[in-house]
Formats: sequence, C-alpha cells, structure tokens
Amino acid sequence: MTMLPGRRAPLDPDRFGGSQPVPEPLLTTLADGRRIVVRQAGRGVPIVLLHGFPLDHTMWDGQWALVAAGGALDGSARLIAPDLAGFGGSDGPTASSIAGMADEVVAILDALGCHEPVVACGLSMGGYVVQHLAARHPDRLRGIVLVDTKLEADTPAARAGRVDLSERVGRWGARIAAEALVPRLLAPHLLAPGSGRSTLETRLRETILQTAVATIRTALAALGDRPDMTAAATGFVQPTLLVVGAEDGITPPECLERAAALIRHAELEIVAGCGHMTPMEDPTAFNARLASFLRERVVTAPPARPRGAP
Ligand code: MLT
Repeated sequence: MTMLPGRRAPLDPDRFGGSQPVPEPLLTTLADGRRIVVRQAGRGVPIVLLHGFPLDHTMWDGQWALVAAGGALDGSARLIAPDLAGFGGSDGPTASSIAGMADEVVAILDALGCHEPVVACGLSMGGYVVQHLAARHPDRLRGIVLVDTKLEADTPAARAGRVDLSERVGRWGARIAAEALVPRLLAPHLLAPGSGRSTLETRLRETILQTAVATIRTALAALGDRPDMTAAATGFVQPTLLVVGAEDGITPPECLERAAALIRHAELEIVAGCGHMTPMEDPTAFNARLASFLRERVVTAPPARPRGAP
C-alpha cells in the first residue's frame, strides 16, 4: 500500500468527532489494477464503512474517535473506510450495479488481506451495497449496520428523476448534482446560525464537485436499477442495527421501521435532530449507538453462520 497526501482538512474536531487525528489515507490496488483509497485505524473486529452517493470516505471523519486511544471501541474494532471505485480519490470505472459495488468491497477487503468476517456499515447508497453484501457474500459478514437507507427499489417517478438528473449532470457537470442533493441531505433545523450546517454543506458540496461526471452518471443508473431487497432481507442472519435521522427526508424513518419488521435480528435507532447524514450530523449519538450495538451483539459473539450452513 502507498501513503497518500491528505486531500482535505478533517472536519472541526471539536464539533465533529473528538480530538483524534484522522488516519492518513492509503492506496491499495485491486487485482484488476484499480487503485482504491482507504483509511483505516484500530485493532479488532473489522468494520467497513461505506459512503453514500456521490460522496466519499471522508463522510466518516467523525467515527475515528471510536477507535482512538480511550475511544469506545479502542482495542476491539478496526475501522476500514474506502472510496468506492470512481468516488473520492479511487480509480474508476465505477461499478454499473449495486451488486457490482458489493463484489468490489470484497475485492477491497481481499486486497487489504482482511479475510475474516466484517461488520458492514453503509449509509444510503452504502446501505444498498451492504444489503447486497449480505445477500451475495453472507460468509464475509458478522454484522450489518444500515444507516439512512431503505430496502425498497425506486418508484418509477424516482427512477425518472435520476434519468433527468443524469442528463443534466452530463450537460452541465457535477455542480448540478451538488445543487440538487446538498440542500436535501441535512436536517432542516440545522439552518440555525452556528448550527454547523454551513461547515457540513461546504464539505458535502466540495466532495460532490470533485466527483467525476462519469461516476455520478454510472452510479445514478445503478441506483435507479437496483432491485427491491425486502424479500432478501428476510434471510439476513447477522445481528443488525438500523439507524435513521428523525428528519431524514430522503429515506424517512418509516423506511427503516419497515426494515426492522422484516429483518430477524434487527434493532432500530431513530436519532433526533438528524437528516440523511446522521453520522456527520450527530457523530456523538451515532458513535454511542454503534459502539453499544457492537459491544453487546458483535464483538463478544462468534460470527453468525449463513442459513443452511452446517
Ligand atoms: C445516498 O445518499 O447515497 C443517496 O441518497 C442514495 C439514493 O439516492 O437512493
């Protein structure tokens, strides 16, 4: 692996995740030659953190506090936060389906020499990827964390909206995606002066503006084509945590309430005051919930066996 120069300053540590340093990004190379940016830190059960669309691993900057000295998971967990292919600093091309992104996560773990079962934690698009990991590679998972996401496929209207956005991004660039998405990502109450909204909005906008048009368009097509996972979710066997912001306008709490009723080993946390970016908007609440789930249901438990395994 190669060390990379940090591309952006971490978020204000006092507001967004304690005073721990964010680990340096590294480059790892997949078997097909694509170079993938990954940050990782900590020792113990591997937890892979999968970002939303069209973002990158820096949305998890507030989670490194968990594995820093004295953090809630210090010595019991290793956080691994990649940029999916084409996003952030990783080489493209971007996978043309969510299932392909899930296979890519397995390839990234293999490239890192991480062959033991992981906890997969994904936000929104990352959550769709986690669902496909659970369906396609259940032996690679020992826990599932779905954040601000849903099981259902797009409605025809949502799919048409993605086609329209993709065409406009193709014509005018990534700024169209930033204009369309950023105002919808955060809880409305964060409009208050000094609430941190402008810091988060600036960070999110910068990330989207750095994303290649081809990546945005390929991912929009993959998102629009993704299958309904409600039937598949009834077969998930791993301990599962569902987290959603109470003010999430993209995947509202009802989406995760439906998932909680379907997934056998699921527990649901609705985080007050957060929109679609719960780990960024309230890292303290998110980290506390993630840590208690991992301590109580994963770190001490042996990896779950897929259904039908001897
Ligand atoms: C995301 O945050 O990853 C997106 O909102 C996913 C989606 O558009 O379905």
